[in-house]
Amino acid sequence: MYKGMLHTHYLVVTLFLLIYLIKTILLLSNKIETLNSFTKKIKIPEMVISFLFLATGIFLATQLPFGSKYDYLFFIKVAMVLVSIPIAIIGFKKQNKLLAALSLLLITGSFGLAEVYHKRKGVSANGNTTIASNDGKALYEAKCGLCHGGDGKLAAAGAKDLSVTQNSLEEIKATIINGKNTMPAADVTPEEADAIANYVVSTIKSK
Ligand code: HEC
Repeated sequence: MYKGMLHTHYLVVTLFLLIYLIKTILLLSNKIETLNSFTKKIKIPEMVISFLFLATGIFLATQLPFGSKYDYLFFIKVAMVLVSIPIAIIGFKKQNKLLAALSLLLITGSFGLAEVYHKRKGVSANGNTTIASNDGKALYEAKCGLCHGGDGKLAAAGAKDLSVTQNSLEEIKATIINGKNTMPAADVTPEEADAIANYVVSTIKSK
C-alpha cells in the first residue's frame, strides 16, 4: 500500500513537473498560441494529475514517522508546494514570465528538498535505508538496537546481553545472517553483516 502510493506519487509529481516545464518554456519563448492550445488540451489530465498529486501526498504525509530533527525540511517542502500553486495560477493567467518561472523554481526546489529530507532521515525514495554498508554503528542501531539496545545490554524479548557475549566475530556474523532460535535473521548483505559484527566485537563487547 505504502510503496504503491509512493510510486504513484513520484509518477504524478514527475508528470506534473513535466507539464509545468512545457508551459513555462512556451511562455518564456513567447509561443503564446501554442501555450493556449496546450493548456486547453491538457486541462482534464492536468486536473486528474493535480488531484492525485495532492491525495497521494497527503496520504504519504500521514504515514511519516515524525519526531526527527529534520522534519522542518518536510514542512518547508509542503509550504513551497502550497505557495507555488497560487503563484503559478496568477503567473499563467497574466502570462507573467517572472511569476511562472518562480513557481516552477519553487516546485522543483521542493522536489530537491524532499530528496535531502529523505537522505538525512536515512530513508531513500523507495523506503529502504541508505546507511552505508560499512557503517557498523548506524547499521547496528537500525537493525539490532530494538532488541539489544544501543549499548547491547537491553536484552528485550529474550535477547542476549551483547556486552558480555562469549561469541566470536564469526559466530556473531553467522547469527546476524541466519538468526538464532527466536532471533530473526537480519535483512542485511554479507558486507553489512561484517560491519555490524565488527562493531559489536570492537565497541559493544568491550563495554
Ligand atoms: C527481534 C529482536 C532481535 C533483533 C532485531 C536482533 N536480535 Fe540478536 N538476539 C535476539 C534474541 C531473542 C537472542 C537470543 C537467541 C537465543 O535464544 O540464543 C539474540 C541473540 C543474539 C546473539 C547471541 C548472543 C549470545 O551470547 O548468545 C548475538 C551475537 C546477537 N543476537 C546479535 C544481534 C545483532 C548483531 C543484531 C542486529 C543485526 C541482532 N542481534 C538483532 C533478538 C534479536
